Amino acid sequence: GEEQTPKQSGEFDDLISTLPLDEGLVPIRLRQYQGVWIPEYFLGGIIAVRQRFTARPDDLLLVSYPKSGTTWLKALAFAIMTRIQHPLAHHPLLSLNPHQCVEYLDSLFFDGQQSMVEALPSPRIFSSHTTYSLLSDSIKGSGCRIIYICRDPKDVIVSRWHFNAKMSSKAAKEPIPLTKTFEMFCEGVCPFGLIWDHALGYWKESLRRPDKVLFLKYEELMEEPVAKVKRMAEFMGCPFSPDEEKEGMVEEVIRLCSFEKLSNLEINTTGVMNSIVPTAPPTFAFFFRKGKVGDWKSHLSPEMAQRLDEITQEKLEGSGLTL
Ligand code: A3P
Repeated sequence: GEEQTPKQSGEFDDLISTLPLDEGLVPIRLRQYQGVWIPEYFLGGIIAVRQRFTARPDDLLLVSYPKSGTTWLKALAFAIMTRIQHPLAHHPLLSLNPHQCVEYLDSLFFDGQQSMVEALPSPRIFSSHTTYSLLSDSIKGSGCRIIYICRDPKDVIVSRWHFNAKMSSKAAKEPIPLTKTFEMFCEGVCPFGLIWDHALGYWKESLRRPDKVLFLKYEELMEEPVAKVKRMAEFMGCPFSPDEEKEGMVEEVIRLCSFEKLSNLEINTTGVMNSIVPTAPPTFAFFFRKGKVGDWKSHLSPEMAQRLDEITQEKLEGSGLTL
């Protein structure tokens, strides 16, 4: 069947067409904007948000480097925030993909849905992959809350490579070898640039403004989900009450948002995402692969793993952040 092509404003096409282009990750076209490689289909929205988005102090923004656990974070934050309106047994997450529950702010602006965004009641919840450096001044200055999730770069590159392979096959293109994807990842010629710089931007801000920027790790969320979900709810200003805790609400949220639960729902096995990658919209199933810590061991050579670890150590030295 033919997929719908989302409406494209084309507003910034002239500017975007002058930016450095890299097509090494077909079908994803990357443009270098202010030093960061960004998928072309996200860029118009990112620029529009920087120019026109007015953040509210009670907005919640979920940010990640792609393949770090965005889908999981969206599900958890959305379930936590809406647990009163939506009893978990009949929750929207059972029939919608997490990306439909929490949309990319940049895609909404790109899609010409700015007035819809402005009309949404508070508290609004959005997501973005943008670097801290490219985040709009309105977001930085509004005092709105940001939750950031990061992940071991070795698992991120493996996840990225599998995702790209599925995208390539959907676009009827040859898959890119892991070795090449790996090189591009190390050089930051990858969606949203160098993973280390991306994480450091939000890490530093979380140290400077801990009440406004919560920094999470995929591995920690796996290891101690109860503590982290309670922390998220406190940070979001809607802590679990003693009664909710006694009734097992925290565990229920975790179960609803688990890889096992979500990946088996019909929407997440057959649904198609629109509005990102207009030329080859991913199916929601692409966002659920293994959902494990340490799957890199089955894919990266010891040399590749060591090289990434060395870059991680060098890049993060003195920051207090470990990945
Ligand atoms: P793997 O490819 O290692 O399995 P993103 O959501 O940022 O695109 O990241 C996708 C990665 O998160 C994939 O990793 C995917 O399987 C994993 N993932 C998706 N939903 C998850 C969930 N509910 N719990 C844990 N991991 C999840």
